[in-house]
Amino acid sequence: MTETTFTLSRAEAFIAEQTAGVDQSFKPGAHFSAPIGWLNDPNGFFFFRGEYHLFYQFYPYDSCWGPMHWGHAKSKDLINWEHLPVALAPDQSYDHNGCFSGSAIVKDDRLWLMYTGNITLEDGTGRQVQNMAVSDDGVTFTKLASNPVMIGEDVPDINPADFRDPKLFEKDGRYYSVLAAKHVDEVGCIVLLGSDDLENWSFESIFLKGEKDQGVMWECPDYFKLAGQDCLVISPMQFPVVGDDYQNLNSNIICYGLVDWESKTFAVERIEEIDHGHDFYAAQSLKDNQGRRIMIAWMQNWGRKFPTHDLRHGWAGLMTVPRQLQLVDGKLVQVPFLTEGSSDWTSLQAGEHLESSKPWPIRLDLKTGLSQHWRLEAGSVADQLVLVWQDGQLTLDRTGLEHQLGGEEKEPLLTRSIRLTEGLIDVTVLIDRSSIEVFVNGGQASLSSTAYIAEHLLSFSVAEGQVEVALQNLNEIR
Ligand code: FRU
Repeated sequence: MTETTFTLSRAEAFIAEQTAGVDQSFKPGAHFSAPIGWLNDPNGFFFFRGEYHLFYQFYPYDSCWGPMHWGHAKSKDLINWEHLPVALAPDQSYDHNGCFSGSAIVKDDRLWLMYTGNITLEDGTGRQVQNMAVSDDGVTFTKLASNPVMIGEDVPDINPADFRDPKLFEKDGRYYSVLAAKHVDEVGCIVLLGSDDLENWSFESIFLKGEKDQGVMWECPDYFKLAGQDCLVISPMQFPVVGDDYQNLNSNIICYGLVDWESKTFAVERIEEIDHGHDFYAAQSLKDNQGRRIMIAWMQNWGRKFPTHDLRHGWAGLMTVPRQLQLVDGKLVQVPFLTEGSSDWTSLQAGEHLESSKPWPIRLDLKTGLSQHWRLEAGSVADQLVLVWQDGQLTLDRTGLEHQLGGEEKEPLLTRSIRLTEGLIDVTVLIDRSSIEVFVNGGQASLSSTAYIAEHLLSFSVAEGQVEVALQNLNEIR
């Protein structure tokens, strides 16, 4: 395909003509996914004129990654989403190989986007350059005539072919952007750019440089303050495994630290994995009009098989449910935006079990304080996902699933666990047609994984103690 092949109007016409043919079998009912085609990172997640806007890495024409567009949707409640026209297509010389990830900010009641243009130069080498686009109505975007606004050659000590994913923020009347870059020392690093007007950008600092044992490249940074604490979210590729943590090929971490605004550098004090499931990557956050810090991530990991692509279902990729972030006693707490839980509780004693064939998505709430051993099975015996609480450990087990992960990743791929030394008090489980998300102890830990399960069957059994259970189909009450 030539450089000018991709346009917004071509994408819109394709979506309008082809979406009816998308196979809906595994399409999520309570998670955001694209109407058709491929989706990866959340982009431009921002609160604008009373609504939450979500953009995303999008290739409408196939269920696999391709030249990136920006898909777009908005929501009033972070639960129900309305699809909007494609916001960006790779139709310029400075983004012809893809409009890569980026972010949004509001200035003068206009919505501004900063994104990475992925390009190949005539000599065949790659470059990643930073571009801006602006919108008066929050729907139609105009790329600036002055693009690119920053190139990697103007940043010291980085490889200009790996310089991407700008995340905008404002501080003391000045605009900043943190970006991912590969340092010439072959480690990940975060670059800080600054601007007074969002149009003219300059290099400020190397905000943070990674260590040799912290992954080969850091993607999708996000800087914000949470309860007064400086936080830097990063998606490092090949972060080393430590016990039950960082088991995925690519992780998503939150660094707690301190920014020195003189030198414009971030000093890391502590690192935590955000989610302990198989699929949580490229998270991005916003602050809304109530001052809430809300995060959403791509519920997937690179280097894996994509079952809906292999099955030719015409779509691939979904987002996690958005979560409100809080810092409680120095610990990250994630409270998901979900349709309210049921007040219809059933009490199960040891040896008792509950079965359901309600269609998914389904929400299961558990009060488990008195039980040391219970088990949840989702799907049929031949195609089953298991969540088990035993010996102080909560384990999600994909061993019995028909659609296994596979891919370039090494073991351990089947299970993901969290050890809860303080015990397990409550659990909220969201099972959708292609995923499971588990939040424990009011959101003190979470496990998010894809799980493509055909039969909407559920069995919950208690082996020890007593558990209170509430179950509801989310489509019934939307
Ligand atoms: C992260 C990422 C980004 C890049 C985008 C391309 O998943 O690799 O670094 O901008 O995806 O689609």
